[in-house]
Amino acid sequence: MTPRTKMLILNSPNNPTGAVIDGEDLRAIVEVCRRRGVWILSDEIYEPMVYAPARHASPAALAPDRTIHVHGASKAYAMTGWRVGWACGPRDVIRAMDDVASHSTSNVTSFAQKGAAEALRACDGFVETMRATFRRRRDLIVRLLNEIPGVRCGEPQGAFYAFPNVEAAVRAKASASSAEMAERLLDDSHVAVVPGEAFGAPGCLRLSYATSDAEIDEGCRRIRSWVGR
Ligand SMILES: Cc1ncc(COP(=O)(O)O)c(C=O)c1O
Repeated sequence: MTPRTKMLILNSPNNPTGAVIDGEDLRAIVEVCRRRGVWILSDEIYEPMVYAPARHASPAALAPDRTIHVHGASKAYAMTGWRVGWACGPRDVIRAMDDVASHSTSNVTSFAQKGAAEALRACDGFVETMRATFRRRRDLIVRLLNEIPGVRCGEPQGAFYAFPNVEAAVRAKASASSAEMAERLLDDSHVAVVPGEAFGAPGCLRLSYATSDAEIDEGCRRIRSWVGR
């Protein structure tokens, strides 16, 4: 943060790391923003995917006067591609955003709005089931990744990504970087991962576990076999 900072963007639960900002840290962050007159844009699209004992905390509850809360249907309701999201914040800010959006992207297609409204109205049970499923997949992928030599994976507390450190595997395979490792995994073993370089974190890979247990099992088996080859 510098004296010229106008806005802080937070994303908890986080893509790519799966990290969740706890309540106490969030309070400290909000306090700094309040003191410096900085706005907060809080992207909470993964909010339904937080695994106990971690708990979701929103800056909107602490500083509604300077927070723009952003959410959407893509993750909670598996509606990726429907392009439905929403923002909540002080009335004058939202009104100005509406003015800009209505002259640039215009409006969300009406059937997609109906779908999102129905999801919000009636799908809490589905979200609950998915959270339990993702938690099981999280445990599975973290265990399998940590069984691969040269791969170290902490336990993400939210979202549906694992973000292991693969520096030792990169060295063992004489790869130049995690970006090269990602490319070789794709070419040699047909496993798609995103290199940490894409997020300013070389030495890591991002793996999505928004897929079946069988796919997670097979993907990790292929990475393990590639590393050992
Ligand atoms: C942190 C975060 N915010 C927002 C989005 C937006 O999702 P969509 O464009 O599908 O609504 C994504 C999608 O990956 C995301 O990871």
